[in-house]
Amino acid sequence: MPKELIRLLDCSMAFDGEVVLNNLNLYINDKEFLTLLGPSGCGKTTTLRIIGGFQRQSSGDVFFDGVRINDVPPHKRMVNTVFQKYALFTHLNVFENVAFGLKLKREEGKKLSKNEITSRVSEMLDIVSLNGFEKRDVSSLSGGQQQRVAIARALVNQPKVLLLDEPLGALDMRLRKDMQNELKRIQQATGITFVYVTHDQEEALAMSDTVVVMEKGVIQQIGTPEDIYNEPKNAFVADFIGESNIVDGCMHSDGVVEIFGRKFACLDRGFAPMEPVDVVIRPEDVDIVDVKDGMLTGTVTNITFKGMLYDIIVDFKGFKWLIQTTDLSPVGSKIGIKIDPDGIHIMKKGEFSGMFGDYSSYSAEYDDISDVEYEPDGADSEAAAYET
Ligand SMILES: Nc1ncnc2c1ncn2[C@@H]1O[C@H](COP(=O)(O)OP(=O)(O)OP(=O)(O)O)[C@@H](O)[C@H]1O
Ligand SMILES: [Mg+2]
Repeated sequence: MPKELIRLLDCSMAFDGEVVLNNLNLYINDKEFLTLLGPSGCGKTTTLRIIGGFQRQSSGDVFFDGVRINDVPPHKRMVNTVFQKYALFTHLNVFENVAFGLKLKREEGKKLSKNEITSRVSEMLDIVSLNGFEKRDVSSLSGGQQQRVAIARALVNQPKVLLLDEPLGALDMRLRKDMQNELKRIQQATGITFVYVTHDQEEALAMSDTVVVMEKGVIQQIGTPEDIYNEPKNAFVADFIGESNIVDGCMHSDGVVEIFGRKFACLDRGFAPMEPVDVVIRPEDVDIVDVKDGMLTGTVTNITFKGMLYDIIVDFKGFKWLIQTTDLSPVGSKIGIKIDPDGIHIMKKGEFSGMFGDYSSYSAEYDDISDVEYEPDGADSEAAAYET
């Protein structure tokens, strides 16, 4: 059984009357890699600062290991933080930077011998793969190496929890990927609980045990990366995590949804008969077939070569979907599509309905099509079916 380490209970935060965190409820398990994910301004840093004790929540409670710690100052919480700007001491070398926290401890009266300090620092440099760098000037290190010094410096005090606020934000793509693997390895090797902040969904999916998706100071969904990707709770989550076509549908009965006037088999159940719903279809879950075999037919309006596959935009009577495929279908060609039941995900209508998941802006033809007078050439039987 995982053991709960941190709990935020009904935590809200307001600055000058403006609510930036609205009734957050969240628990974090011991040894978990949990990521707060969301767009700029959604409240990720504020949440992290409340856990670290740098910010006092306007209302609600924070618990650590079952004990309320609202009034415990940051340095007395068993938590350490790594920031985006890692703020290394540029006048100190790598060894001295990592040893800094331990020396502070010694001054606080917790006696650590010189040998103990050397061996602890060396152990930390081992963990972040920087052995042999002890005497190097930190300003002579690459961005990734500096980041690893910052992590070693935070880990050397053996915190129970490490808070990381967009720690890879300053690194280029390649280094970011390497450091993601490195951080995951460090987290597993040390067994320290990581609370990680990012606005990069790929990073969150790749690294985390649990992802917390936030928007407008509200937790939209908590789950494993697979849950969040496969079973998004609303249009915001579906759109923020990966690419999604989100279309209006109507739930006919359990396992049957109507889209564009056509019935599709799906796995979802438990909705009211004829309940209007949002339907998520991921671009990789659409199969291209001959027009005669298609559940729907559409016209390709745009192609982007992505290396492994093509991103194509397909117009279904004015609604544009993104489809990912390895087969090239030229612009202007008609295609049929098939979607397996497990490629269709149904969500309840909510505040984000109609705001996301539409790829119309991909194509210049959008202006023509959004014109009510516009009638595409050769409107086919599928279009007729849609109109009924
Ligand atoms: N000290 C403060 N005073 C006033 N407003 C604040 C303060 N700190 C944060 N805010 C506001 O709270 C909201 C959430 O900020 P926060 O820094 O938590 O967002 P974030 O999700 O970390 O965003 P980013 O990805 O840009 O770092 C923002 O609207 C921000 O302007
Ligand atoms: Mg932030």
